[in-house]
Amino acid sequence: MAVESKAKKLVAGIKSLLKSPLKKVKTGTRAKLPLVAARKAGTEISPAMLQKSAKAHLWMHFTRHSTFENKDMPIIARAEGHHIYDVNGKKYFDGLSGLFSVNAGHGRKRYADAASKQMQELDFFPLWSFAHPRAIELAERLLSYAPENLNRVFFTTGGGEAVETAWKIAKQFFKMTGKPTKHKVISRHVAYHGTSQGALSITGIPAMKKMFEPLVPSTFRVPNTNWYRAPSQFKTEDEFALWAANRAEEMILFEDPDTVAAIYAEPIQNSGGCFTAPPIYWKRLREICDKYDVLLVADETITGYGRSGAMFACEKYGIVPDMMVTAKGITSSYQPLGALLITERLFEPFKTGTNILAHGYTFAAHPVACAVALENLDVFDEEDLVGNVARNSAKFRKTLEKLYDLPIVGNVRGDGYFFAIELVKDKATKQTFTPAENEKLLRGYLAGAMLKEGLYARADDRGNPVIQLAPPLTIGPKEFDEIEQMLRKVLTPAMSKI
Ligand SMILES: Cc1ncc(COP(=O)(O)O)c(C=O)c1O
Repeated sequence: MAVESKAKKLVAGIKSLLKSPLKKVKTGTRAKLPLVAARKAGTEISPAMLQKSAKAHLWMHFTRHSTFENKDMPIIARAEGHHIYDVNGKKYFDGLSGLFSVNAGHGRKRYADAASKQMQELDFFPLWSFAHPRAIELAERLLSYAPENLNRVFFTTGGGEAVETAWKIAKQFFKMTGKPTKHKVISRHVAYHGTSQGALSITGIPAMKKMFEPLVPSTFRVPNTNWYRAPSQFKTEDEFALWAANRAEEMILFEDPDTVAAIYAEPIQNSGGCFTAPPIYWKRLREICDKYDVLLVADETITGYGRSGAMFACEKYGIVPDMMVTAKGITSSYQPLGALLITERLFEPFKTGTNILAHGYTFAAHPVACAVALENLDVFDEEDLVGNVARNSAKFRKTLEKLYDLPIVGNVRGDGYFFAIELVKDKATKQTFTPAENEKLLRGYLAGAMLKEGLYARADDRGNPVIQLAPPLTIGPKEFDEIEQMLRKVLTPAMSKI
């Protein structure tokens, strides 16, 4: 009986819904929401109001929301040079350049002026069939710094989209040139290449992928170049690197060369903690790619635009890529932009007849982003930011290496202005922490302690636990000391927090 009457009610409800006119939904019908109301009334929005609203409405990226149940969410409101300020006025050293990306430092008015000028000249036009002057100018400017073989630029709005684009180009190129079965991608263990389903499929971090499986099929992982944790049979880094490169050849053969389209690799692998590789690795990878007609995609999302101590790390390590993914530092992140630099060979089949690459993004090569990128590159040239990194990188490393006197500091590695400090339980044996200990160490202690000390940096355990640093390229020895001092204060009691 109860079920029957419930069903009757439901049907009656649906009938009346169909009869009644649809409620008109006006923009702003929820105008009572506190920040909306305050803005309308012209009254002040307090930090407490922001806090409450952020917790109620924002879905933070890669963030455990439970953290904020009994704790404030950090809200960054202002930035200047290599400092950021939260909404309560607390100052932090930006040891990560936002997200490995504000390479020229914060608060440069000339970037705002360039954006304003561009908005007044041409606010927006897509790069779909029409070009615009800033995109044309920027493409040429990027190529002026890039390896000689790269000659074509496909713009995106970020790194992941450029990763995705490179795979699509690789697939279509081989279809158009008589090798239609070449489509698979090889990438490296623990490497991060983005979050869209294609880029995530290329990403080598299983925990990050698990919830989104099945992803785009046909990607395969090979070892990365973590020399600190290389098996003990390797006596030199070159020997180990050569072994690691040869795993790519092995994978190509396992999968059949006729099916493999590309290998993706970062010149310095971020995830896992700044894994570098000696030139022999890149030389060997190139040889393997040439032997099996596999495209080498250098993912310079982080390493590009000075981070490594060269404009592009490809130049520094002698990498000859078929495609180069760049983003982040291209505008020093004052605007969202990515750029995939491509060898002309891959563009050739697209030059004729009805052939097109059916792929693009509304906001890619946004004129304002391109204008800001050009301004950013002017700053790079005028202030010799790349030279500053090249001259000071060794000093930065030396300063961080002072931390080796702490028992928890196992390894300092990286290059340019991009370093990781791996934390260990036992320095002599390189014993690492258990997942439960990592949890206590990184999330329970380090993340908060660094902020308290006034340092914004990353405590990460996608591989072994590391603290990562990628400060603006403007800083020098005085700031290296400042970073070391802050880290020393935080790391000295760290072992007792587990
Ligand atoms: C190496 C690498 N590739 C791709 C990406 C994805 O870039 P985006 O977040 O701009 O899509 C990142 C982001 O950090 C990255 O480090």
